[in-house]
Amino acid sequence: MVHVIVHNSVSADGGVEGFEPDIGLHYEIAGGFGADVHLAGSDTLLAAGMTADDEVVGGVEPPHDDPDDARPLLVVVDSRGRIDSWASLRQAPHWRDRMVALCSRATPAGYLDRLAERHIDHIVAGDRRVDLSEALTELERIYGATRVLVDSGGTLNGVLLRAGLVNEVSLLVHPCLVDGRQLTSMFRPDESAARGANGIALRLTTMQQRAGAVVWLRYDVVASTTGAAS
Ligand SMILES: NC(=O)c1ccc[n+]([C@@H]2O[C@H](COP(=O)([O-])OP(=O)(O)OC[C@H]3O[C@@H](n4cnc5c(N)ncnc54)[C@H](OP(=O)(O)O)[C@@H]3O)[C@@H](O)[C@H]2O)c1
Repeated sequence: MVHVIVHNSVSADGGVEGFEPDIGLHYEIAGGFGADVHLAGSDTLLAAGMTADDEVVGGVEPPHDDPDDARPLLVVVDSRGRIDSWASLRQAPHWRDRMVALCSRATPAGYLDRLAERHIDHIVAGDRRVDLSEALTELERIYGATRVLVDSGGTLNGVLLRAGLVNEVSLLVHPCLVDGRQLTSMFRPDESAARGANGIALRLTTMQQRAGAVVWLRYDVVASTTGAAS
């Protein structure tokens, strides 16, 4: 079974935006998890405002697979075919040259064609949205994934947590509060989540104060209402 870790920098009230996270510390801790897959939500990448493929020179060659490349594989959940910045992503130094889009049977065929033109692999799982359990199984089978770091906002975190697919939660708690009425938290409901039925029990495994009065909290997921992490 793939081991899944949700890692977020948060305000003291659990917000994932509306403050300046310590990005260096965020990725220092993230790198220590030894993940072979980074899983990102489409809204997270869209919020980063990356350059559109048409404006990037290069980046359309087939991926170069280096067996000694220890960088993680970037995997993006994108059933609606909204990511159009694959060339920029491939030029970033953080991930392997090969990348994967997770799609569903509702993903527009034209988008799958564009992915093929850009040499981006894709996995189809689920009818409307991506079936994340099936997708993780496929990532393990096809790419040998063992440890997945979820670098995303509260929506994708929430779907994964409620599906019982997350083993650990890692939070870098920053000394600030944000306005939770308009900004998003690290664990959000989606349209299918019943109100009040989505509690997740956690067991604290690490508590460290880091530079800048940031506190690192690491938890095992004990159980959710819909499944239990192992
Ligand atoms: N502070 C931090 O550590 C941190 C880290 C990352 C991001 N962020 C911030 O978080 C914000 C984005 O968070 P967000 O919550 O809006 O977006 P998000 O976490 O990126 O979640 C959106 C993703 O969830 C997928 N999804 C939604 N419902 C689903 C379902 N029922 N089944 C399967 N997949 C489902 C969507 O898939 P489809 O595309 O297929 O619809 C999409 O890929 C941004 O502001 C970003 O900067 C903060």
